[in-house]
Parts: sequence; C-alpha cells; structure tokens
Amino acid sequence: MDLGVGVRVLIIAWTDLETALSAVARIRHFVTTTPQERDAAGNHVDPLWPTTGSVEFRDLSASYAETSSPILCNINLAIQPGEKIGICGRTGSGKSSLIATLFGLLYNRSGYVFIDGISIDTIPLSILRSNIIAIPQEPFFLGGSVRKNLTSWSSESSGQHVSDADMIDALGKVGLWEKLDLATPPGETGLDTSLDNIDAMFSQGERQLFCLGRAILQDGKIIVLDEATSR
Ligand SMILES: Nc1ncnc2c1ncn2[C@@H]1O[C@H](COP(=O)(O)OP(=O)(O)OP(=O)(O)O)[C@@H](O)[C@H]1O
Ligand SMILES: [Mg+2]
Repeated sequence: MDLGVGVRVLIIAWTDLETALSAVARIRHFVTTTPQERDAAGNHVDPLWPTTGSVEFRDLSASYAETSSPILCNINLAIQPGEKIGICGRTGSGKSSLIATLFGLLYNRSGYVFIDGISIDTIPLSILRSNIIAIPQEPFFLGGSVRKNLTSWSSESSGQHVSDADMIDALGKVGLWEKLDLATPPGETGLDTSLDNIDAMFSQGERQLFCLGRAILQDGKIIVLDEATSR
C-alpha cells in the first residue's frame, strides 16, 4: 500500500468515525433531555390484575400539561364489572380525554382512577396499557402486512399467541376477510397482504372495522371504544 492509499483510507475511516460519534451524541442528547412520563415501574402488581374489570373515577380532575387548566373537572363515575356504558357529550366535551386518563396519558391534578380497587397511579404504565383494550377515534396502522397490523399489540411477554385461524375469524366477523382474500394473488394468504398503501386499500369505515377486528383478538376485562364506528 503506497502512502496515498494509506492517507485516503485514514481520511475515510476518520469521517466515518465522526459521523458515527455525532449519531451517538444525538441519541444521548435525546435520551437525557426528553421529558419522561411518570411511571410506577418496578411496583409489584398481581399478575392476574385486573380480575373483574371494575372502573371508578373518584373526584378526578386532569389536564394535558402539568400547569394548564384541567380539561376534566371533578369526575365521579363507578362502572361495575361486565357493565356496558356509553358516554355522550358534544364535541370537545372531553370524551376522548376521559378515556385517555385510563391509560395514564393526562396529568392527574386531583382525585383517582381505580381499576379493580387499585389506583392506576401505582400500576406501571406498560402493565396498565397492555390490560385495557382500546379502539381509538382515529384508526392507526403501522404499515407492513395485515398479520402484523392485527397482532401489533402482542409480544413475547404478553404470552398471547394469535393463530392464523383466529385472525381470519376476526376479519370475517367484521366483514373484511372476503375482500382481503379476493385481492390476494394465488399462493398467498390475505393475511400477508401489504397495508403500506392503506388509502387505496380501505375506506375510513373499513379502517375502523379493521381496528375492531384487532380488538376482538385481544383478551382483556376492559374495552373502550372511542366513537369506533362513527364514520
Ligand atoms: N392532545 C391535546 N393536548 C391539549 N389539549 C387537548 C388535547 N386533546 C384534547 N384537548 C383539549 O381537550 C378538550 C376535550 O377534547 P376531547 O378530544 O376529549 O373531546 P371529545 O369529547 O372526545 O370530542 P369529539 O367528540 O370531537 O371527539 C378539547 O377542547 C381540547 O381543548
Ligand atoms: Mg373524541
């Protein structure tokens, strides 16, 4: 190797190193300066929680920012296990915000939310969020296949395996399987269909039906539907 080649290799290695180091510095900055959610991580929770699914809002006031005025004021509501309730109110009245408090997404200014008699403040967020099934007002998709989108909530730690037959059954129940199956080339299954171009694939209402299918596959004591069939 002559000197010219040696210098060139050195310069390339040096610039690569600089690029890699600035990436590390950006990630470090992001990790150390991004505000973290409050979390009761580490608290022991009964692995069977919640066993019945009762929900109680007691004198709850909550806001979106720590210092802003509360969006929800002095809410008192007790929901018994197995009870189905509907919450009505004009647009902007706080229906979605009430649901968001169940997931620990708002700041509790005062009061409590109890699930099965345990204040959700004491439950680690990952456990809290994985135990409530939600169909949001705005359907969300991750890209990738139908299979991936139907089981995005499942992880090895959830211990819940979803079979192809269960997925097809859920899609059948919401009336989407036939459409997916017909659109699939021979040799593939509708579960492998890509949802990368969701606009061309499903209407707004069909996207909500897909989210309903996703919820059908989950096991849980509490399910919340935020205007899930509004379109
Ligand atoms: N992400 C947010 N950050 C700050 N404030 C918010 C946020 N989302 C909602 N709000 C405030 O909370 C109020 C209640 O909104 P929310 O979405 O809970 O109403 P809603 O009853 O679900 O309405 P809709 O029927 O239109 O879905 C809004 O008027 C707005 O001021
Ligand atoms: Mg809403």
